[in-house]
Amino acid sequence: MSESLMNTKQVKDLLAKAAGLDQPGGNERLKRILQRVSEDLCRTVEEFDVTPTEFWTAVGYLTRLGQANEVGLLVAGSGIEHFLDLLLDERERRAGLQGGTPRTIEGPLWLADAPLVKGEARLDQDPEEGEVLFMEGQVRDADGKPVPGAVVDVWHANTKGGYSFFDPSQSAWNLRRRIEADGEGRYRFRSILPVGYGCPPGGPTQELLNLLGRHGQRPAHIHFFVEAPGYRKLTTQINIAGDKFLYDDFAFATREGLIPDVVRHTDPAEIKARGLNEPFATIRFDFTLNREAANLPETVVVREHAKAA
Ligand code: BEZ
Ligand code: FE
Repeated sequence: MSESLMNTKQVKDLLAKAAGLDQPGGNERLKRILQRVSEDLCRTVEEFDVTPTEFWTAVGYLTRLGQANEVGLLVAGSGIEHFLDLLLDERERRAGLQGGTPRTIEGPLWLADAPLVKGEARLDQDPEEGEVLFMEGQVRDADGKPVPGAVVDVWHANTKGGYSFFDPSQSAWNLRRRIEADGEGRYRFRSILPVGYGCPPGGPTQELLNLLGRHGQRPAHIHFFVEAPGYRKLTTQINIAGDKFLYDDFAFATREGLIPDVVRHTDPAEIKARGLNEPFATIRFDFTLNREAANLPETVVVREHAKAA
């Protein structure tokens, strides 16, 4: 085909009409976005000579992806969730804001309203064979001043890579807490070192990744939202140094500045002092929050989440 159908009046009119652009009601911005997305899709179909069978295979795939509740996995695996972070970074930079703890993707496994505790928490409720972890740090502003009362919402996987609620073998709220930092902005918790998440092997996300010659693994990590009145909400994760997938995350979330040292403690006196019988690990990580300002892009993301009963 020499002349693209996309340039014809017939197709232009079709896509404009399908997006409601010839109608007075509705949302103008949505209409223009939908028109662009449809146009890009049709252009791709034409240029790559996508057959009707291939097209309907993709429609069937997306239907199964939604039915399996894996859309959030594929969004991360496609790199688009990381792109949204890059875009926000760039928009902040253009607005004159730099610095602070780097953001990285939320992922699809957060739950609202985890138990709120003051100062320090124990996250692991279920029996685990894993290495005990003590993590602590301080929430500070860009001038290095503590942010008293900041809320550190933390969630992570267990030693099998599963998240409570999504993994019904775990008790409610296992490895999830909101910790209200003390008057010096300090938080601390005891937990177990997680292992990395892997996409469900038989699921539609992994099915597509296989066709791309990619794995669906994440390095071990711990998620955080950090919030305080007057400050920009931080969405981030730390990665556990030494993980095989540290720089090969299927969700592209690893960033410099988010890989703290994991200190291993084997001294019997230290082990005893912590009330343990085995070596343990510690991580220190301080968060730097930026002040909110009217000219900056929004960091509070409204998205649908699973609801714990
Ligand atoms: C996770 O945080 O574990 C995760 C992120 C993106 C996709 C799947 C899982
Ligand atoms: Fe995660």
